[in-house]
Amino acid sequence: MKEYLKLRSWIRLRFSYFFWGLFFMLLSALFNSVSLTAVVPLIDRVFSKKEIVLQKNLPPFLMAKGERFTALLNSFPPLVILKWLLLIIILLLLLKGFSTFYQVYFMRHFGQRAITDLRNRLYGHLQILSLDFFYQGRLGELMARITYDVGLLETAISEAISNLIFKFLTVLLYLFILFFISWKLAFFSLFVLPMLSFPILRIGRHLRKIALLLQKKMADLTTILQEKIGSIQIVKAFTAEEREKAIFSQENEKFFRLMLKQIKRISLLSPITEFLGAGGGAFLIYFGGKEVLSGRLSTGVFLLFLVALFSIISPIKGIATANAQIQAGASALPRIFEILEEKNEVVEKAMAKELPGLKEIEFSRLSFGYQKKEILKDINLKLKAGEAIGIVGSSGVGKTTLINLLLRFYDPTDGAILINGEDIKNFKLKSLREKIGLVTQEPILFNDTIRNNIAYGKPEAIEEEIKKAAKIANIHTFIETLEKGYETIIGERGARLSGGEKQRIAIARAILKNPPILVLDEATSNLDSESEKLVQEALSRIMKERTSLVIAHRLSTIRNVDLIIVLKDGRIEEQGTHQELINKKGLYYHFYQLQGEETG
Ligand SMILES: Nc1ncnc2c1ncn2[C@@H]1O[C@H](COP(=O)(O)OP(=O)(O)OP(=O)(O)O)[C@@H](O)[C@H]1O
Ligand SMILES: [Mg+2]
Repeated sequence: MKEYLKLRSWIRLRFSYFFWGLFFMLLSALFNSVSLTAVVPLIDRVFSKKEIVLQKNLPPFLMAKGERFTALLNSFPPLVILKWLLLIIILLLLLKGFSTFYQVYFMRHFGQRAITDLRNRLYGHLQILSLDFFYQGRLGELMARITYDVGLLETAISEAISNLIFKFLTVLLYLFILFFISWKLAFFSLFVLPMLSFPILRIGRHLRKIALLLQKKMADLTTILQEKIGSIQIVKAFTAEEREKAIFSQENEKFFRLMLKQIKRISLLSPITEFLGAGGGAFLIYFGGKEVLSGRLSTGVFLLFLVALFSIISPIKGIATANAQIQAGASALPRIFEILEEKNEVVEKAMAKELPGLKEIEFSRLSFGYQKKEILKDINLKLKAGEAIGIVGSSGVGKTTLINLLLRFYDPTDGAILINGEDIKNFKLKSLREKIGLVTQEPILFNDTIRNNIAYGKPEAIEEEIKKAAKIANIHTFIETLEKGYETIIGERGARLSGGEKQRIAIARAILKNPPILVLDEATSNLDSESEKLVQEALSRIMKERTSLVIAHRLSTIRNVDLIIVLKDGRIEEQGTHQELINKKGLYYHFYQLQGEETG
């Protein structure tokens, strides 16, 4: 319960709905038990044609009133009683129906509102978390937490808690009826209740453990699905279908076996309770029957007793189920809180400023490593607004890492990046990233129309702007050839486009945003010379009049930049213009020669 209350620190719980639900719940339980009691005079007066007698154990002040009331009832002819009581019972049940409706409606409103808010909270928090978080964890597990765990919580909050209260209330009312009729019989019959609850409690404990394991297994399955369906092309290309099928079916089988365990226990719950209940019931009918035969109890009252007793079984079972669901929800809660409590590695300072117009970018004594291993060491670099710089180096040397730091996807372990002489940590994240247009190494597109993909950084862009950006990126002509043009849906991750097309759409997206700083991580993907030329053209067009950082795998891209730096072992090994570096006959020259051989 403590866990559940902790929810309040993350979302606003609308308790007013909860209390209205409770109110109607009370009404519903009341109408139910009163309509049940109305059966007594019906049976005694109409079917057994006897006088209705009052229980002798009423307090004195009720006794007088009660006797007058029964006398009144007895004075009516049975037929009148039959008509009126049936009418009253129907009316009561109608009222009960209304109350039940509002009870369920309000309670579920309370729960669903909370869950919806929680999902928003979770998604919102994920948007804020640094890249690091997503790369270290398994995406599938994250998905499982947001779907499966939140689902468990949903059942707990929107059904189980109200069920628990309602069933508890019903049990109390029935208990009252039972004890009112005959405390001896009630006491006797309730002697079996502890016997009932013992096995149920035990099973409940097991169920909680199994629920936890099921969550884990579901996460495993989701991870496999995500990964392997997402990379289906590789699976097929390496003819690993059979192997993947086997791996999946193995995990699926484990889930199945665990599920069976759960099913076994859940389905054991009701027969066990029912059997024990029936055993107790037989005893009861024997003793109660003797009371009726001896005239100490009227048939109607005894029947009411039996009905109340049997009716108590179902809510008790309901309590057990609701309890199990609440436990399952409670086990999901810490996993949800874990995400919500996940700290952001890259934090924005409280006093962060807007980034003013760009004059200069400087990397100063910059060092960085993802975990222990140092990737970049003591990088010093300065570029003025309007300049273009090319970054070269062998694969894995840390080129992408360098620009990840500029966008503050990560923070340096030592040194700093300064803009206009001020640490970028002093600027608002939004303000910093707004100024940078990023074309990533692997173009990342959404499963949406081409138009929306290009306009992602500027949703309010008009038709003309979008087309203009596409033209600069050399992709407009291609888009026009498509049947639906800019409205073409491009499939997940742009699956229906070629590498070059994706890249040029990503470039158009960066252009449309019209940022003062441009960061291009040129892809190594093998573009044919035609599309390479198109991409090259697009790049050189947009690098004009902007401050650009270009990671180049094809050295021709950066032939005309102001400065080229060559990274080796995390340090700047060489720097200079293209011609200077060629003359130097160092590492750059070496790369240049290699590429020369490749292309011709
Ligand atoms: N999120 C990460 N966590 C841990 N290590 C990482 C992470 N991203 C990259 N690395 C490692 O950091 C090193 C530098 O990676 P980076 O992506 O910067 O290389 P790169 O120079 O861009 O290479 P390429 O030319 O192949 O794109 C690599 O050894 C890589 O394995
Ligand atoms: Mg890279």
